[in-house]
Amino acid sequence: MSQKIFIANWKMQLSPSEAIKTAKSFVKQFKTFKGTAVVCPDFLSLTSVSKIFKDTPLLLGAQDLAAFERGAYTGEISALDLAALNAKYVLIGHSERRSYLQETDKLLAAKIRMALAQKIKPVLCVGENAAEKKQGREAAVIKAQLKGALNYLSNNGVRSLLIAYEPIWAIGTGLNCNPEKALNVKNTILELCKRAGLKKTPILYGGSVTAENAADFLVPGGFDGLLVGGASLNAKSFGKIVKS
Ligand code: 13P
Repeated sequence: MSQKIFIANWKMQLSPSEAIKTAKSFVKQFKTFKGTAVVCPDFLSLTSVSKIFKDTPLLLGAQDLAAFERGAYTGEISALDLAALNAKYVLIGHSERRSYLQETDKLLAAKIRMALAQKIKPVLCVGENAAEKKQGREAAVIKAQLKGALNYLSNNGVRSLLIAYEPIWAIGTGLNCNPEKALNVKNTILELCKRAGLKKTPILYGGSVTAENAADFLVPGGFDGLLVGGASLNAKSFGKIVKS
């Protein structure tokens, strides 16, 4: 897996007009880019950012999607509509959604199914919180978080998924995970994926990634890409991360 994948998660940080402005500066910054750079704006900005990214090297992603295809599901966003906007990736089970919105493993497996049906690549997010880290329970927590999704995938013959390891205590804190420790977790995730019959599963790291520490996670044998929050809100700083 030589080509790295860089995903910008803009969360709910930008108003629609700020998202348009930022998307335009990304297009300038990534004009000649050859790799995989994905931007996930919030739902309200997806349509305008989709238009801005047309015929550019930048790919569109979504931060979530509905577990249902279409129907009476107030407030939900269908994978059908994300695909129509040319979304190529979707974040699933970000820790902010798991904790604030109580998303369950069963729900996440249904969302993965919706994404795959529309050929949108699901990026399943996993990671331990500070208390779990203190107790040395990283592997057990991640195993439990992956179980629902991996069971679903192996029972349905699905073999494609991306996983983002985002330790919750590292998100937005400036305290990135020690790269060696993060790599141990990556290997645990890979082992679990292999056991579930998944062959090539790109594993990304996220949590206080900056231009200064990005390269530490991308060493040979390291992570297959990065999922970036705060430092992805600016085209120049995300551009520097992508060049790491
Ligand atoms: P930060 O890069 O701001 O720590 O956020 C990481 C994240 O949650 C990306 O999904």
